[in-house]
Amino acid sequence: MTDTLAFVGGGNMAEALISGLLRQRRMVPEQISVSDIQPDRLAYLASGFGVHTSRDTADLVRRAATVVLAVKPQGIREVLDEIRPAMDRNPLIISIAAGVSLATLAAGLPSGSRIIRAMPNTPALVGRGVTVICRGDAVTEDDVAVAEAVLGAAGRVWRVDETAMDAVTAISGSGPAYVFYLMEAMLDAAERMGLSPETAREWVLDTVEGAAVLCRETGRHPETLRQQVTSKGGTTAAALDVMQEESVNDHLVTAILAAQQRARELAEQNA
Ligand SMILES: NC(=O)c1ccc[n+]([C@@H]2O[C@H](COP(=O)([O-])OP(=O)(O)OC[C@H]3O[C@@H](n4cnc5c(N)ncnc54)[C@H](OP(=O)(O)O)[C@@H]3O)[C@@H](O)[C@H]2O)c1
Repeated sequence: MTDTLAFVGGGNMAEALISGLLRQRRMVPEQISVSDIQPDRLAYLASGFGVHTSRDTADLVRRAATVVLAVKPQGIREVLDEIRPAMDRNPLIISIAAGVSLATLAAGLPSGSRIIRAMPNTPALVGRGVTVICRGDAVTEDDVAVAEAVLGAAGRVWRVDETAMDAVTAISGSGPAYVFYLMEAMLDAAERMGLSPETAREWVLDTVEGAAVLCRETGRHPETLRQQVTSKGGTTAAALDVMQEESVNDHLVTAILAAQQRARELAEQNA
């Protein structure tokens, strides 16, 4: 797929991608290298996956065809400073740092650098992520295919224009937290009703997963499916009436728009 892939930052996201790439036999360990400032992380990744590890980021970047920047957004400037002098081979750069724009990345790298910005979400840790990517000017169609193959190891990959990235962050990036919030409420209610937490957890998990699969497989809008399970005067209607009275939907929409606004602010701070 690509001859050599280097990760700068060997944290949770890098591990999710490495594990998926090897499990799905998209790459072999000899093709993958990782640099991190935490010796423990490097030891863990080397012993767990057999990948090459080093604290010398510049050296890895010099030898890599593709480089994934997988450090926290606060650390991205330092990493750009480190890799800039090592970009002789002009490797494809894929940044997964949340809220760091293509312009910010390009400003820290030599002109003509091929840069893809990606926004994954946490289900990537179990191979069920949504990753949305946007491409810089110098990127080729082959580069996008490489990025899709690397990031696709942790779930599905979608292409968008960068202008959609703050909205993407609010929907799929932060989205798992909204679902967890609903699950927490269902578990709190289960406890109030005296159900065993362990059993309630299984029911909630199967219910959330089942509802998503039902929605996908029927191709129906969630509103249609909701109406189908809501008979007038019934139990579901009793719950939904309260949600309606409390304007839960409006509050959730307002909350998700706040996430988009925060993504904008963070992108400006990182510029
Ligand atoms: N986790 C998510 O759900 C998620 C979702 C979307 C996007 N992302 C993005 O993915 C990126 C990685 O997230 P993560 O959860 O994998 O982070 P993480 O677990 O903190 O991993 C980052 C690793 O990079 C190390 N590091 C810091 N500076 C470095 C440097 N200059 N050179 C080499 N390594 C360095 C960190 O060490 P220290 O701990 O010592 O700093 C840490 O071990 C972030 O930018 C995040 O915004 C994550």
